[in-house]
Amino acid sequence: MRIAPGPHSAAWSELDAHARRLAAVPTRELFERDPRRFERFSRRAAGLLIDASRQHLDEMVFGRLLELPEAVDLAGYREAMWHGEKIDATEERSVLHVALRQGRGERVGGADIEREVLEERARMLAFAEGVRSGRIAGSDGRRFEQVVHIGIGGSDLGPAMAVQALAHHAHGGPDCAFVSNVEGCRLSDLLARADPHSTLFIVASKTFATLETLTHARTARQWLREQLGEAAVPRHFAAVSVNHRAMDSFGVHPEYRFKLWDWVVGRFSLWSSIGVSLALAIGAEAFEAFLAGAREMDAHFRAAPWAENLPVLLALIGVWNINFRALPTLAVLPYEERLARLPAYLQQLEMGSNGKSVTLEGRRVEWQTAAVIWGGPGSNAQHSFYQLLHQGSPRAALDLLLPARSSCGNEAQHALAIASALAQAEAFMTGYPSEAVRAEFELEGLAPARREALEPHKVQVGSRPSTLIAFPQLDPPALGRLIALYEHKVFTQGVIWGINSFDQWGVELGKRLADQLLPSVRDPAAQPAAAAGVQRMLEHLAAWRGGGSLTDI
Ligand code: F6P
Repeated sequence: MRIAPGPHSAAWSELDAHARRLAAVPTRELFERDPRRFERFSRRAAGLLIDASRQHLDEMVFGRLLELPEAVDLAGYREAMWHGEKIDATEERSVLHVALRQGRGERVGGADIEREVLEERARMLAFAEGVRSGRIAGSDGRRFEQVVHIGIGGSDLGPAMAVQALAHHAHGGPDCAFVSNVEGCRLSDLLARADPHSTLFIVASKTFATLETLTHARTARQWLREQLGEAAVPRHFAAVSVNHRAMDSFGVHPEYRFKLWDWVVGRFSLWSSIGVSLALAIGAEAFEAFLAGAREMDAHFRAAPWAENLPVLLALIGVWNINFRALPTLAVLPYEERLARLPAYLQQLEMGSNGKSVTLEGRRVEWQTAAVIWGGPGSNAQHSFYQLLHQGSPRAALDLLLPARSSCGNEAQHALAIASALAQAEAFMTGYPSEAVRAEFELEGLAPARREALEPHKVQVGSRPSTLIAFPQLDPPALGRLIALYEHKVFTQGVIWGINSFDQWGVELGKRLADQLLPSVRDPAAQPAAAAGVQRMLEHLAAWRGGGSLTDI
């Protein structure tokens, strides 16, 4: 029997009442009442320190939030996932990304899955090391210096984010570039300067049927044929997919093919051979360390009580902000430029997973699911959109990510990043109340009329909730822990909201319509396949594309 979702639990209605109780209490007042908030609302485990003391909640709220995992039988769902039950009910699939990072003897998903995962990982890492050492080389024996990873969505965002995040661990590995968007310009820019002899293409696609990826892969293959001849192609293409037949017919050499399984959801697939570009970039040892970091977070998620469990805490804070405090967006703000692509990665992970509005039983949900994720590197963001975060009428919840040490050894400048992150978190929380503004005017000796005019503009109300996620340094295990932290957060929220976090039916309609429209885009005179409004737009675009002329509307 299925457990009712969190919004049907007794704790949920109590949380509603607490939200009303706290609405008029600024967070800074909660700090005045309880100077031990840091101790109370921060947790250190699995190499991370999460400080949630600036969230707009108190112990009573925290207590009720901690009832939610019990109310929805989170432990039961978590174990169901770990044991390979088909928790992705609409696709009738197991969801076993945790099996991808298992160590020998863990039997996650069963003995067969463990064996297959370890074998495939070993093959993939041997390939990566072969390329890095020059043992696996191009058709004329030249070393691969340039890797072009072709993929999109879950087959792109993870490797692209991680290769950038761990660039300082490359130690002589090939340059890895990523091609995803369908317009083709990125690939054409890359090919314009690539040396075909030293270029390796990776085609990463779970299905091997994705328009963008296959289009790019064909263009790249054609380019290579023209440059080096047909015989060279198999030496310059590797691929990762579930679809062996498609890899075959594309012409990928069996030794350069890597396996994926149906039970890996694309946006959780970085740990598999989809991460081959990361392995090429940082090498086998660092890739293993990345997996080990995730494994550490897995063990923590499975063993720690809810009140100490980092992914669960992040999930509960998110539920509090989204469902009770009307904060539908989460800005992800890393104070480490190398994590610049983390917000985009988390957009897919969180919004692709929990952007659903029916329960597992197919009933419409009456509560909000999933935050809108956005963000960017902290310092840049401070000089860009933080103005809105401090004083704008739309309000957002914030995750500030903060390594203690510099990833490039520039500790002096990194100190500035630490000061900035902590200062901003504090400013978001305290705000700048009228009394402080007036005291500043007093000191400046400002004329009364000027004071009156300026005061409302300078006041910051504060109580903008942020969570600080700190860790010693951005390295492979730390990145593994961080990503697994967010994965388990997403899973926990999905269970609380009573939805299936692992399907993605919503993206299919647009793909189908694009297929139907393509003939009319290519030949505007073709039998119209589009709705009237779309057809009219197509005519205008066709005129601009050189296919005729139109009068202005
Ligand atoms: O359109 C969404 C999606 O299906 C994602 O779930 C997936 O990660 C992406 O497209 C790419 O799919 P594939 O890996 O099969 O090319």
